[in-house]
Amino acid sequence: MSQSNPTNESRKSVIASELAWHEQEAHRRISLDTFLYDPPAFDAVVGDGFAFLRTPPGDVALEMGCGEGKETLQLAERGLLVISTDLSYAQLSRTRERLREWAPDAPVFFVQANAEESPFAARSFGSIYGKAIIHHLDIDMAAEEIKRLLKPGGRATFAEPMAGHPLIMLGRWLTPQWRTRDEHPLTFSELRQFGDHFSRVEIREYFLLAPLGYVFRLLPGGESLFRRLHARLQRVDRRLFGTFAALREWAWYSLINVDR
Ligand SMILES: C[S@@+](CC[C@H](N)C(=O)[O-])C[C@H]1O[C@@H](n2cnc3c(N)ncnc32)[C@H](O)[C@@H]1O
Repeated sequence: MSQSNPTNESRKSVIASELAWHEQEAHRRISLDTFLYDPPAFDAVVGDGFAFLRTPPGDVALEMGCGEGKETLQLAERGLLVISTDLSYAQLSRTRERLREWAPDAPVFFVQANAEESPFAARSFGSIYGKAIIHHLDIDMAAEEIKRLLKPGGRATFAEPMAGHPLIMLGRWLTPQWRTRDEHPLTFSELRQFGDHFSRVEIREYFLLAPLGYVFRLLPGGESLFRRLHARLQRVDRRLFGTFAALREWAWYSLINVDR
């Protein structure tokens, strides 16, 4: 939740309930996650985030809230040593198992940690990456922690769900059981609040009409149609966001890139 001065006790209870939900319920989200996030649906967002990071080979990168590790291997393939963290031990175990299968030698280490108060020393990381994590956190605590962890000159990028897309918000309203009680998609004012902690911030929006393409992912044999339509609608979305700035409020996702 976004609160400027949350008491330790209220935050502890949010973290405990987030942990309990992800330990027990996250496996039920797999089919929804596969449907929404399987490649190439998020390639543009993730690619833009990775392109923003400075990633000299051998540098140490932190992945916050790695979940089932959708991008963990891609980070490691950039030549980085990756520390992947999550609150949930169950999520970390699953990611570790999958990685063991796909790429046993990938330089990835897993640490169970609360992203708001992590166990790492200040200035440990040149790059920090996260997808769908900030909206689970207290905005100010998360931003201060990320700033603390970044080296001078370090960069962080986060892809986060936003609160303005009518269709997506309807979907969320119809399926509250798929999410934790305390997470909430972000508003632009919360993104700016997060960005205010850093020396430089850039925000990009994604997915206005593109989510319509998912209808084809529901149909047997519809994957290739989904891919073509989704790619085409993303191009239309980019033009619409560029021409009519007010439409950015309706983006499903935003990428927030920050320099320490
Ligand atoms: C929506 S999932 C996103 C996972 C992954 N990044 C992805 O894109 O699939 C959010 C993840 O954040 C983790 N999480 C929630 N609160 C957290 C916290 N305070 N610290 C670290 N991880 C947290 C959850 O356990 C969950 O795995």
